[in-house]
Amino acid sequence: MDRIRLTGGVKLRGRVQISGAKNAALPAMAASLLTSQPVFLDNVPYVRDILTMKTLLTEMGVEAEVRPDGTSMLRAATLSSFEAPYELVKTMRASILVLGPLVGRFGRARASLPGGCAIGSRPVNMHIEGLEQMGAKCEIRHGYVEASAPRLKGARILFDTVTVTGTENLMMAASLAEGETLLDNAACEPEIVDLADLLRDMGARIEGDGTRTIRIHGVAELDGCAHRVIPDRIEAGTYAVAAAITRGAVQIENCCPAHMAAILTQLERVGVEVEAEADCVRIRGRDPIRSRDITTNPYPGFPTDMQAQYLALMTQGDGVAAITETIFENRFMHALEMIRMGADITIEGSSALVRGGSLLTGAHVLASDLRASASLVLAGLVAQGETIVDRVYHLDRGYCRIEEKLVGLGARIERIR
Ligand code: EPU
Repeated sequence: MDRIRLTGGVKLRGRVQISGAKNAALPAMAASLLTSQPVFLDNVPYVRDILTMKTLLTEMGVEAEVRPDGTSMLRAATLSSFEAPYELVKTMRASILVLGPLVGRFGRARASLPGGCAIGSRPVNMHIEGLEQMGAKCEIRHGYVEASAPRLKGARILFDTVTVTGTENLMMAASLAEGETLLDNAACEPEIVDLADLLRDMGARIEGDGTRTIRIHGVAELDGCAHRVIPDRIEAGTYAVAAAITRGAVQIENCCPAHMAAILTQLERVGVEVEAEADCVRIRGRDPIRSRDITTNPYPGFPTDMQAQYLALMTQGDGVAAITETIFENRFMHALEMIRMGADITIEGSSALVRGGSLLTGAHVLASDLRASASLVLAGLVAQGETIVDRVYHLDRGYCRIEEKLVGLGARIERIR
């Protein structure tokens, strides 16, 4: 199993190119199931989760090409299977994104239920209830949800809590349903808007994406299209924290600062210099890093996917910061590893109290999920001596060539196989 070895103490400097957003590319790939025509995607990050989605689609009979240069072609002319098997779903929960498109176009789907994961229980009840409200018959059997419907019918669906992939699944299903669907309390993440843009290019009739109410007028069929995936705001945010925590100066290119408002505002509050242009942001870390509280929230709030990285930054703060996680119930595993590196953190329910000013020392640490691994790399960048981050496969799920990009900024980091 691969590990990352890094030696802290270098101020990062230079320029880094941001890849396409994993969490926008995954639903875009699933959306190819909605048409028999080819869907061409650009700016698809060449990361493990994308390759897992490719395997899933290929096993269903989709012709799929995913290239390291970010271009992809997906053609779901006919399918040989309508199933997302346990073996794939257990490695990537986002496999559930095929459920909506399959029921929408083919009237049938069988998908393994994802079960719990390292960051929380993460049920998919709202995906299933939404399809039922649209007329699908859904049964849970042998760990799978089996859904069938002659043709879905538009419905008014109110989400109890904001769900990103739930909104995406139902948006895709509703695109081919009969009549109008209203999604209320919908997610408004930039990834939702990107999916809506893609679906509109395929001929779907969608309004209100980016707000809490999305209206979808179903059409009889959808066409192929070409679409460029938005930049990854979480990858960009991670490099912004890398610059801040090392008191370096980094130009983050090919990103979308408008999607990062909550992240950039918070960095400014803690004393980081932020200079944003249309598709680039310059970050200059400064002393002192001020300790400031944060609470994670659905977009446009501060993203849960940046909580671990921000926590790493707060270990270097000048006071005490309370970090409250409201999306997932168990997303502080990284804090326990940072404590082993010398951080002063107390977990109280859904909050972590981080006392800044810790001198971190390198240690052998274990990553529990994607963003936790990124935060341990960030902690390692300021730690004294050598840090080894184990279970790098988590990092590889969502960060494209991370050690190469960090080396480009001067970090002393390598992968050990
Ligand atoms: N929830 C339910 N029932 C449902 C669906 C969700 O109770 O049917 C709850 C979840 O348990 C959670 C909350 O609602 O407490 C929000 O979860 P959401 O459904 O929004 O999460 P997701 O769609 O499974 C996506 C991203 C995650 C990101 C979250 C929150 C993708 C592929 N994944 O997950 O990304 O953390 O939204 O923004 O888009 C990551 O990239 O590291 C990652 C975990």
